[in-house]
Amino acid sequence: MVSAKIKKRHADLCEQVELHNYRYYVLDDPLISDAEYDRLMKELMEIEHDHPELVIPESPTQRVGAKPLEEFPEVVHAVPMLSLSNAFDEDEMRAFDKRTREKLSVEEVEYAAETKLDGLAISLIYEHGRLVRGATRGDGYTGEDVTTNIRTINAIPLKLRGDFPDQAEIRGEVYMSKDGFKQLNEYQKKHDSKLFANPRNAAAGSLRQLDPSITARRPLLFYAYTLILPDGADYPGTQTEILGKIKHWGLPVSSETRAVKNLEGCFDYYAEMVEKRPRLGYEIDGVVFKVNKLAQQESLGYVSRAPRWAIAYKFPAEEAITRVKSIEVQVGRTGALTPVAKLDPVYVGGVTVTNATLHNEDEIRRKDVRAGDTVLVHRAGDVIPEVIRVVKEKRPKGTRPFSMPKTCPVCGSDIERTEGEAVVRCGAGLYCSAQQIQSIIHFASRRAMDIDGLGDKLVEQLVNTRLITNVADLYRLDREQLAALERMGDKSAENLINALEKSKKTTLSRFLYALGIREVGEATARMLADHFGNLEAISEAGIEALEAVTDIGPVVAQHIVHFFHEKHNIDVINKLRKAGIHWPDVKRLKRLPLKGKTFVITGTLESMKRDEAKDKLQALGARVSGSVSAKTDYVIVGSEPGSKAEKAKQLGVKMINESEFMALLNQ
Ligand code: IVH
Repeated sequence: MVSAKIKKRHADLCEQVELHNYRYYVLDDPLISDAEYDRLMKELMEIEHDHPELVIPESPTQRVGAKPLEEFPEVVHAVPMLSLSNAFDEDEMRAFDKRTREKLSVEEVEYAAETKLDGLAISLIYEHGRLVRGATRGDGYTGEDVTTNIRTINAIPLKLRGDFPDQAEIRGEVYMSKDGFKQLNEYQKKHDSKLFANPRNAAAGSLRQLDPSITARRPLLFYAYTLILPDGADYPGTQTEILGKIKHWGLPVSSETRAVKNLEGCFDYYAEMVEKRPRLGYEIDGVVFKVNKLAQQESLGYVSRAPRWAIAYKFPAEEAITRVKSIEVQVGRTGALTPVAKLDPVYVGGVTVTNATLHNEDEIRRKDVRAGDTVLVHRAGDVIPEVIRVVKEKRPKGTRPFSMPKTCPVCGSDIERTEGEAVVRCGAGLYCSAQQIQSIIHFASRRAMDIDGLGDKLVEQLVNTRLITNVADLYRLDREQLAALERMGDKSAENLINALEKSKKTTLSRFLYALGIREVGEATARMLADHFGNLEAISEAGIEALEAVTDIGPVVAQHIVHFFHEKHNIDVINKLRKAGIHWPDVKRLKRLPLKGKTFVITGTLESMKRDEAKDKLQALGARVSGSVSAKTDYVIVGSEPGSKAEKAKQLGVKMINESEFMALLNQ
């Protein structure tokens, strides 16, 4: 006999675990850390181990109870799972809205606006609040019974909450977050297993595993968008109300859902989501608009396999097929040689792309990309377009594998490959004009010396016409020389001279960063400045002294020492100082209340730009990082935060809002 006390504890634990799943997946507002959650699960498992009679199918421990299957049984969908008609541009949206209004004989229509997640459609059947079946869409009429796998997804409740109906079928999408997908592929790579091409394939592959213990280890998520009740049942009046109900019953629905008015409302929502898309934690391939009133949906009905009351407005594809015209090798600031594919122009990710990176020699060999090949290119958000793979069937005859040049394609110097690194570099340093150009572009950039009006093209012109060879030469340029250049006039020449003059007043950390020492980014530059206080001390510091600075390891220390040992670099620095570049002394006894703390900023801040916030934090000794990890101390969450907030939540990192952040700054 199990004591009443243990029975009670068992029931409490079951309830708590469910509550925390709900807080985490549905409300997006967890109450406890992952570690605390794991402790609850562990205690529950221990009790059930000692008292097997307490185990019930709805216990959170029973998500991965089942044995591997031989095959998935077939299911017939009582109501077919249809698809959506698509719109690819504003005109197609206009036609949809016009048709809708005409059929309904109304002037105005309210739409439920939803995101279109890229995953796979699933039907869930709940009887008396218990999950009894989960099935794939299949061909829309028959699918596969994947209940044992569905049960392993924590975001899908085994039991509904609150005031649920006796019978309900809820449909939605099983998907994988961008982070989850990345982690899964890292795991696969480590175990020499197959990599997935995208989160959608990863989600589909994970759900179709015959062994549910594999599915259980995959980071699958779910969001619901459709409710089907038995004939004659009472539905809420609108799609948005349906989603509200579903959420109350404990299933996740997209937090981006809202009701919008007319075509203008649809266009606004679309524009908003295009902008937000790169910051979302999951892939979306468009948005969906559904006539919000169910009565109106009914009168519109269906055409063949899609409802007349809904449309998917798709985003421009992020992948496209095109042809590689040639492969060029570009030389970067540190001499790194990057092979770049020159492409037949192709529209992808909303822009026309003509170049895509091939990263390095190993990558190019692995993908075996050749001039003349037909390739799949990817571009998302602001990322550099890249070649994903070659369509081998379309390879013309006579192509040859690409090989990296043996000497620098710009200056002809020897090429070096450091052991253990994939990149090869031109060893000529600043004698190579490509490296001159790139280092000057870096020097002038906003976060470095901030020389307004000195763009990439102008730097190229200045170097190629031999007016300058290094950053010190910039300060010897005069107005006449500049005005005589292509695309320059008197006015822009004068502006540039003024900008150069203005840039002379700087800070030690900006100057250090501007020098472009390998591996010395903004944060390291700031630490160096704070630690040593002046340039002389840094330039004379040995490896050991440098390694005493927070975050500087042997490699970076070596780069710094090497930099200040090059006579050429010292000459340039001396010339720059002679030209009048100056900075105030760094007060070394500055109070650094945030020293040793790492911050990440996500979302939009009201009171300042992100760059400004970063400067302020660094001035107080903090480190500002671009990604959240277990080492992050604080995540500052502005409005419309991205996936970083989710990650912070997962890792139990402290999150603060803008006013808490301001308080930290003003302490
Ligand atoms: S409504 C008849 N809403 O897109 C209504 N579908 O092309 C059909 N999808 O099979 C579904 N997000 O896999 C709907 N908010 C959303 C959706 C969505 C993604 C998928 C779903 C469906 C396909 C239709």
